[in-house]
Amino acid sequence: MVAKNEKIILSIETSCDETAAAVLSVRLGKKWPQIKTLSSVVNSQIGLHAKMGGVVPEAAARAHVQNILPVVKKTLLEAGISQLDGRQVVIYEDLLKKIDYIAVTVGPGLAPSLIVGVEFAKALSFALGKPILPINHMLGHLYSPLKNNKGSKAKDVFPMVSLIVSGGHTILTLLKNEKEYRVLGQTVDDAAGEAFDKVAKLLSLPYPGGPEVSKLATLGKPTINFPRPMLTQKNYNFSFAGLKTAVLYYLRDNPLMPKSYKLKANLCSSFQQAVVDVLVAKTMRAAKEFKAKSISLSGGVSANLELRNQLRNSCNKNHFKFFVSPIKLCTDNAEMIGIAAAFKLFNGFKPTGYKNIKTNSNLSL
Ligand code: KG4
Ligand code: ZN
Repeated sequence: MVAKNEKIILSIETSCDETAAAVLSVRLGKKWPQIKTLSSVVNSQIGLHAKMGGVVPEAAARAHVQNILPVVKKTLLEAGISQLDGRQVVIYEDLLKKIDYIAVTVGPGLAPSLIVGVEFAKALSFALGKPILPINHMLGHLYSPLKNNKGSKAKDVFPMVSLIVSGGHTILTLLKNEKEYRVLGQTVDDAAGEAFDKVAKLLSLPYPGGPEVSKLATLGKPTINFPRPMLTQKNYNFSFAGLKTAVLYYLRDNPLMPKSYKLKANLCSSFQQAVVDVLVAKTMRAAKEFKAKSISLSGGVSANLELRNQLRNSCNKNHFKFFVSPIKLCTDNAEMIGIAAAFKLFNGFKPTGYKNIKTNSNLSL
């Protein structure tokens, strides 16, 4: 039985190299949206792109074309919206009708990848006669930590300072409430995740580099004093390209270093600590300046345990509530797209028909 104010959202995400779909049940009322994830499937193309050392856009799009239907079918099956008939997954029309909205990432991201998800969602919207919610991928990251708001009232949460750290973006945002936000600052060159990936490449670690660098960092100590770019500047922008170059020069000047596992681990730990110091310091400064009640952390780099722990400790010390997603919600997935869709509906957004939906690979927050 579906409750009166309960809506079912099927969300789709194909902005980079993950083909993902999720089904969420959302209760919308006057209070904060109550969100239950019925299923979430992520098909990662890591194996495909690892061979090339990074994401190849055309290969990513071709893989999305191959994966999208099986991923959506599996998601529906796991949500109980489709049923197994022998060995074949059969999506029954009457069960599909339970879906109220189709949410899809329209940008930012790789244009060939975005097109696959968006055109698939449009075809589904046409076939089912259900409206589409176009979602900004960064809003997915931004709202994802708010899903598990266990009983906090909006007045105890906002204003909120939100740090989004992903492979393509590093953005500090101020949320006045569930609806109104403004960007305080962002990276002027490389994103934090991009810096992790580039440092991993310098150390010949496999793609994607972020998790590899952080794994190695757990075995080392921050013995090298790398620069903390823009740490003391009185703005909320970031810069990580220089830090990556500092690692490059360090490796050039210490050619024997990469041969020692221990030294490599120390380098990873030192680089990671430099990134964490800048991210934590600027986020805390913003939270104090704007008298925030809470801080949230999201995006692929928020899977980094040192960043999570050090920002959490700083929040505890300074009496800010801290919101962070479980690790599986940090890197790209469709559940976060459904969460952002739920907040959009909660905020009064009116979904449209499929004809008005377009991709925008440079969409900003
Ligand atoms: O949000 P995301 O999945 O994709 C984008 O929207 O960009 O973020 C991917 C980024 C990659 O740069 C990856 O290396 C980084 O997140 N990442 C990490 C960790 N896990 C993923 N960086 C540092 N430490 C991690 N544990
Ligand atoms: Zn992302």
